[in-house]
Amino acid sequence: MSFTFLLNGESVHIDGEPPTRTLLDWLRENRGLTGTKEGCNEGDCGACTVMVTDEDGARAVNACILFLPQIAGKAVRTVEGIAGPEGQLHPVQQAMVDAHGSQCGFCTPGFIVSMATAHLNGATDHDDQLAGNLCRCTGYAPIIRAAQAAQAAPVPDWMRDAPPGEDADPAYGAPEALTDGPVPTAATAPGGYAGTGADWGHRNPTAGSGASSEGGPVPSATPFYRPTTADDLAAFYAANPGATLVGGATDVGLWVTKGLRDLGTVCFLNGVADLRGIEIGRDTICIGATATVAELRRAIADLHPSFAEMLRRYGSTQVRNAATVGGNIANGSPIGDGPPALIALGATLHLRRGGERREIPLESFFLEYGKQDRQPGEFVEAVSFPRQPDRLRCYKLSKRFDQDISAVCGCLSITVEDGTVTQARIAFGGMAGIPKRASAVEAALRGRPWTAETVAAAQEALAQDFQPLSDMRASSSYRLKAARGMLARYLAEDEGRPVNVLEVQP
Ligand SMILES: Cc1cc2nc3c(=O)[nH]c(=O)nc-3n(C[C@H](O)[C@H](O)[C@H](O)COP(=O)(O)OP(=O)(O)OC[C@H]3O[C@@H](n4cnc5c(N)ncnc54)[C@H](O)[C@@H]3O)c2cc1C
Ligand code: FES
Ligand code: FES
Repeated sequence: MSFTFLLNGESVHIDGEPPTRTLLDWLRENRGLTGTKEGCNEGDCGACTVMVTDEDGARAVNACILFLPQIAGKAVRTVEGIAGPEGQLHPVQQAMVDAHGSQCGFCTPGFIVSMATAHLNGATDHDDQLAGNLCRCTGYAPIIRAAQAAQAAPVPDWMRDAPPGEDADPAYGAPEALTDGPVPTAATAPGGYAGTGADWGHRNPTAGSGASSEGGPVPSATPFYRPTTADDLAAFYAANPGATLVGGATDVGLWVTKGLRDLGTVCFLNGVADLRGIEIGRDTICIGATATVAELRRAIADLHPSFAEMLRRYGSTQVRNAATVGGNIANGSPIGDGPPALIALGATLHLRRGGERREIPLESFFLEYGKQDRQPGEFVEAVSFPRQPDRLRCYKLSKRFDQDISAVCGCLSITVEDGTVTQARIAFGGMAGIPKRASAVEAALRGRPWTAETVAAAQEALAQDFQPLSDMRASSSYRLKAARGMLARYLAEDEGRPVNVLEVQP
């Protein structure tokens, strides 16, 4: 592995590191940048937050579940790069001092990076921006007050990392060209595939000794691949179906940091530009597999605001900035938040293996717990759904409001014409071993008057569709009751009755 990136304004070359080494470990152990803290090491606490800038802008991400190849060609700013070159405090740092926003200080660097990134982006929804940063002693009120106090201050010059391809801030010098390493040759590509314009490497147990595999046989140690086009990925994966695909690594990262798993051959999708786009066409909305959840949320905010609002509670800002829509589908999780909403929108999944493509209704991708309709070497290229009048309501029930996995996620789209239900697409997460469509409920609604009596009949039908498990998040009976409540809530919301618990006034 060999690539260049910008670290706190300075051009840095990485060579010979294992591809599954996390940015957090590298910062702390190789660079002595110990301001970036290790708390949970699984994306939950934000102590490891860093700012990553590329052509799409600056965003906060968790360094503990970010593998080094994911920052190739980008600019990274750690807490050590938040103060100015002469040691001047950033406005958020000064505000944290003034507002007494820090006690033991362990969480503070992560908060500072999140706050500085939000400040750079002009984001003032501080509760959301900081929902992925946990503080165990100060309490959040002083921290939010600090963020508010700093929000009007101008962005310091030193915070503006030039994205790749542009000139760097003169204070930090011009970066080297932020490009990948050697182009692979047939001799270096396992499975006989010679990719183009991508980055080959292999896990080298002797860190720092250089690991370019160009021109020689691939050693038995773990190889990795970072394609730059979907065609390239398709050819590689068809030839190497055992490879582990890495989207945002918000799941895969934990396999390494918590599961201590050896991933075998690893293929990073973050360099594949043509899987990233979200196209909002006249008839269809198409979301590329590597679009992030944050990008999806922005794209659908006006079209399906309830979906976007639910995504506000998907993980945290840092998780949404990394997690991809394709990863959220491909992992087959029964409690993923994306699939139920997409199924309720009538989504089609676009799969590809080599040059062959196929399209299936999203709900039919999920066969049973841990099993999806995906062939070896086949990957998710995109998911699409028809443009439609917005009838989608998404109800996420979790123990905590922010940064929590759903106990039940109900997504309902019910069309009513002249008082009669003409169409119903309803899917739930957390109610079965897969994200599942509620066919019996839909049948109980379709063609019936849109009334409380019809909803009551649909509630009874829930038991035909689902026999949920009891686990640490919720009991089976609680889940069924919650799903019944979501059906009633949809009608209440449609009738203009208040339903949002956050809006209930004492
Ligand atoms: C702190 C935290 C909070 C979270 N909160 C939520 C939440 O609120 N709601 C929720 O739904 N999820 C949540 N998650 C889970 C996770 O963020 C999602 O499942 C995420 O969308 C996975 O996407 P990714 O790109 O990070 O996938 P990765 O971790 O990169 O990959 C996940 C799986 O999908 C495969 N894969 C990835 N891309 C493709 C592709 N294009 N084709 C085929 N296979 C592919 C990988 O090989 C792997 O098996 C949370 C995770 C963390 C760490
Ligand atoms: S160490 Fe907790 S999110 Fe990274
Ligand atoms: S100041 Fe101690 S955890 Fe936040």
